[in-house]
Amino acid sequence: MTNVSQSEKIALVAISSAITAVLVYRWSKTPGRNVPDEDDFVAHQGEPGAQQQKQGDGDDRHFHVPYIHQRLALWQIRRRSEKLLRNCQQRRTLRFFSNDAVPKDVISNILQTAATAPSGAHKQPWTFVAIKDPRIKQKIRAMVEEEETINYKSRMRKTWVDDLKPMMSSLHQEMAATTNGEASSSSPPPNIRIEKPYLTEAPWLIAVFKQTHGGLDPDTGKRIDHYYVQESVGIACGFLCAAIQNANLCTLTSTPMGAEKGIRELLDRPDNEKLFLLLPVGFPAAGATVPYRNPERKPSSETIVWK
Ligand SMILES: Cc1cc2nc3c(=O)[nH]c(=O)nc-3n(C[C@H](O)[C@H](O)[C@H](O)COP(=O)(O)O)c2cc1C
Repeated sequence: MTNVSQSEKIALVAISSAITAVLVYRWSKTPGRNVPDEDDFVAHQGEPGAQQQKQGDGDDRHFHVPYIHQRLALWQIRRRSEKLLRNCQQRRTLRFFSNDAVPKDVISNILQTAATAPSGAHKQPWTFVAIKDPRIKQKIRAMVEEEETINYKSRMRKTWVDDLKPMMSSLHQEMAATTNGEASSSSPPPNIRIEKPYLTEAPWLIAVFKQTHGGLDPDTGKRIDHYYVQESVGIACGFLCAAIQNANLCTLTSTPMGAEKGIRELLDRPDNEKLFLLLPVGFPAAGATVPYRNPERKPSSETIVWK
């Protein structure tokens, strides 16, 4: 057996590490292998060149600049698409929230993500109001519960109330308990109030407003037009829900019918803004449940058409 000294061992380890490093570096430079790390890059716009500035009419919105896109390898593209699909498949609308805190910077990231949505003529016709103040949440809850009681009693069709039954059953049980089991099967009895505890229990409420127009132009005094407002804000809310899910949080996409104006006034929003959605955001309460569904969603054969 050969006798290898300590210093020879160290030299051998150093040489083999150096060879490995060179091989890995050269492999990464092989054409087709030089893929960026997925989390490393941010797709980004270039800056206008001198030529573009010279040709432009002075309005920098009229330049076109290169779009910088770092193309990933197909396996990365596939992996990303699968990962998002799996994550979104786990999303459910939650109606029972814990009051565990969620840091403001996380909510800020989520809202900034929503605001990256495309919009008609890039008017970005949305305002997101993030509410943490318990007094404001309590006032909103009171308004929504009052209006929702009227909605159930008189504004909503019976088929609508029936469609909502599977989602509301837990809340209905609470209602029944408060009235010694007198709750009717399709609408609440006249002497009870609908409870929306999630509006105060979730650490954040996000009120999304759509801007029907952009206010008055200070130069001309004319209204600044917004286009495809409904579609644009709907897409932004889709981004918002996906960002909430991606952050490992939960939400309830809710439409507080009848309380829109009161909430707008409470939040001091101008009257070109209309409440679009109200979303509690946070973690699920211990023991939170969701309506059972089987299958959970329509099969893709019913929702996707390939040609
Ligand atoms: C525009 C819109 C409005 C909704 N309004 C309410 C609501 O006011 N209250 C509620 O409990 N759920 C509301 N939902 C949640 C739906 O009931 C829920 O998304 C649907 O049952 C599917 O369940 P899932 O989100 O768990 O997949 C709303 C959803 C959307 C998209």
